[in-house]
Amino acid sequence: MIAIGSDHGGYLLKGEVIAWLKENNIPYLEFGCTDGTSCDYPLVAQEVCDRVVNGSVDCAILICGTGIGISIAANKINGIRAALCTDTYMAKYTRLHNNANVLCMGGRVIGPGAAIEIVDTFLHTDFEGGRHQRRVDQIADIEKNN
Ligand code: RB5
Repeated sequence: MIAIGSDHGGYLLKGEVIAWLKENNIPYLEFGCTDGTSCDYPLVAQEVCDRVVNGSVDCAILICGTGIGISIAANKINGIRAALCTDTYMAKYTRLHNNANVLCMGGRVIGPGAAIEIVDTFLHTDFEGGRHQRRVDQIADIEKNN
């Protein structure tokens, strides 16, 4: 199960991604704006990331205008490793090396074709572990110590 959320800057791209999730029979829960009415991206990030942290979803996709605000907010939450990706290389390596559990994108930055390839890569790439586990653990230590 995937959670997908956006603010008003990301709802159009969210709709495109949801259409692709449906076509591919990937179950999802939707959060945030469903139209252009203004809403606050930190609240959407919190609502979605709570579900990642409590394990009710496997991972999440968050979309705002640039992808920046919503990724900053998501990364404040313990246990979240949110990655703002603008291409498939970033999506692949943030899964392989960072074990990212939230994909962030900018609805005003990338088009739907690129976004869907990014989502596909993110969802279908596994964490490599090994030396990268040590580094992910060090990130968790930073959370604990701050
Ligand atoms: C909303 O206008 C915009 O600020 C938001 O979607 C996002 O880009 C923030 O980082």
